[in-house]
Amino acid sequence: MCGIVGYIGNQNAVNVLMNGLNRLEYRGYDSAGISIFENDSIKTFKKVGKVEALKGIIEDRNLSSKIGIAHTRWATHGEPSDINAHPHSDSFNNISLVHNGIIENYSTLKQKLIELGYTFKSQTDSEVLTIFISYIYSQVKDLEEAVRLALSEVEGTFGIAIISNYEPDKIIAARRGSPMVLGIGDDELILASDTSAIIQYTRQVIYLADNEMVVLDANGYSTKTIGNETTTNVIHQIEYDLGRIEKSGYDHFMLKEINEQPQTITDAFRGRLLIDEGNSRLGGLSIIEEKLRNAKRIIITACGTSWHSALVGEYMIEHLCHIPVEVEYASEFRYRNPIILPDDLIIAISQSGETADTLAAIQEAKQKNATVIGIVNVVGSTISRETEAGVYIHAGPEIGVASTKAFTSQLAVLALFSLYMGRMRRVPIIEGQRIAKELSLLPEKINQILENADNIKDIAHKFYKSKNFLYLGRGYNFPVALEGALKLKEISYIHAEGYPAAEMKHGPIALIDKDMPVVFIATKDEIYEKMLSNIEEVRARKGTVIAIATEGDSQISKFADHVIYIPETLPMLIPILSVVPLQLLAYYMAVELGRDVDQPRNLAKSVTVE
Ligand code: G6P
Repeated sequence: MCGIVGYIGNQNAVNVLMNGLNRLEYRGYDSAGISIFENDSIKTFKKVGKVEALKGIIEDRNLSSKIGIAHTRWATHGEPSDINAHPHSDSFNNISLVHNGIIENYSTLKQKLIELGYTFKSQTDSEVLTIFISYIYSQVKDLEEAVRLALSEVEGTFGIAIISNYEPDKIIAARRGSPMVLGIGDDELILASDTSAIIQYTRQVIYLADNEMVVLDANGYSTKTIGNETTTNVIHQIEYDLGRIEKSGYDHFMLKEINEQPQTITDAFRGRLLIDEGNSRLGGLSIIEEKLRNAKRIIITACGTSWHSALVGEYMIEHLCHIPVEVEYASEFRYRNPIILPDDLIIAISQSGETADTLAAIQEAKQKNATVIGIVNVVGSTISRETEAGVYIHAGPEIGVASTKAFTSQLAVLALFSLYMGRMRRVPIIEGQRIAKELSLLPEKINQILENADNIKDIAHKFYKSKNFLYLGRGYNFPVALEGALKLKEISYIHAEGYPAAEMKHGPIALIDKDMPVVFIATKDEIYEKMLSNIEEVRARKGTVIAIATEGDSQISKFADHVIYIPETLPMLIPILSVVPLQLLAYYMAVELGRDVDQPRNLAKSVTVE
């Protein structure tokens, strides 16, 4: 969703800001803008569309500034347009502001400001905040205090950055529920809503806490809370390399990230997989070990692809630990007054660590005294900080909007977690060793699938004109069917549904005809024979079958029109392999259709609003 960059230092701010906006494009956006100082007054440029369009209106102007702020907007209040794009200015162009999040009481504030004689150009809540700060400034004549007082009255979420003619040597930024990171370079400070806009300049960062504000000027930075209390900050190091956020020769980030999976799974296991002990070591959970031992029920909550991981996690944990597991959409969990018992453990899964609904579900669970742990990718993200303990998946930055490597790394961590919890309870060492050994073989097995990409590309070429797809799986492969269908929808815009294969008879079978390709995830397991019957049911209605099957399966080619083989592994680990060909299938179909694979229409990488 929306992205923020701010810069103060000796380089030309325009270059750093535009570069930062390019780095933030992956989050999903519909317009972009920039404010800098020129001849001692604020100049703002904004444009609907891509950052390239913004570049088009500024590149001949030879702009130069030491200070500036910039933004990519994902519309919430008001359509994507030049006027609704950020930065927003007050009536006399004395204050310029960029905002991520939603000001919930904006209409009350707007009404009050209209009564005071203020007028508005845009339909956004962000302009209301800008003018509200301007109004308070007119009373208190101190910019920092005006921002602080305004934010004290605001309800909702925000990450903001402001420059002003009143105090042109500084940037003021603040956050509540929307991430904000400060990069500390040599003689320069870079502010951004995520580290990808910072890493090129410095690895030293401070993650602002909720309700914290920061003032930057040429001499450095100072922080305090919106409640006017002093704060102390810890400087962290960004641990990934710049190469992780560049395409490195691939046509798309998504393809790069699919191909990174042998490495990202290895990274998820590093230092954690104890093959001889048949166990795993999850340092981030040691402080709650006693609570894990006593847990009587687990509730996993997440959104999107992370919710599909949660479904696989449910099967893994119930299978190895014999603890009941429930999986809840975070957006449902937060509003339905869930029953949380004293020995419940809540797991929140999130790639970004910023998803608003998942965050709100965590708050709801904490409110009810539950133990909440996180399985998160982005280091220092809000969810990683709001949870009592957790496990990072260490997949590195995921830039493609459609999640791929984060999904398999979430599954890898859920497998480690299930093994750890299982060994505490009922899993004997021999079984633990078998699982740990199989886990260690997964990266090489993913490599084998990737080597078969050309076969998948050929299949994609045959089917990319289809209007509908059905994905069917059972057991551990049911969530994979959902994920395969989601991948296709997200990036190709082809309608696709995922179903448990046996449910097909209760509705979707009515859709099957010669124009309906059906993807069966039919790997060898205890329900394999039943899957063959389901395939027969589709074939009898002239549906075309694409099967994901286990290497060495000599039967399947008699049932399916096209087969993609994957290596054998334990049933609980199959999703980590079986999803990979589905990622590639979706990718190649989207490429055939000429879609914007990395930034599909309307989607955002990190959904920071409800
Ligand atoms: C968005 C993204 C999805 C992601 C979902 C949950 O919809 O486009 O790829 O699965 O949010 O995000 P999270 O960061 O919490 O895993």
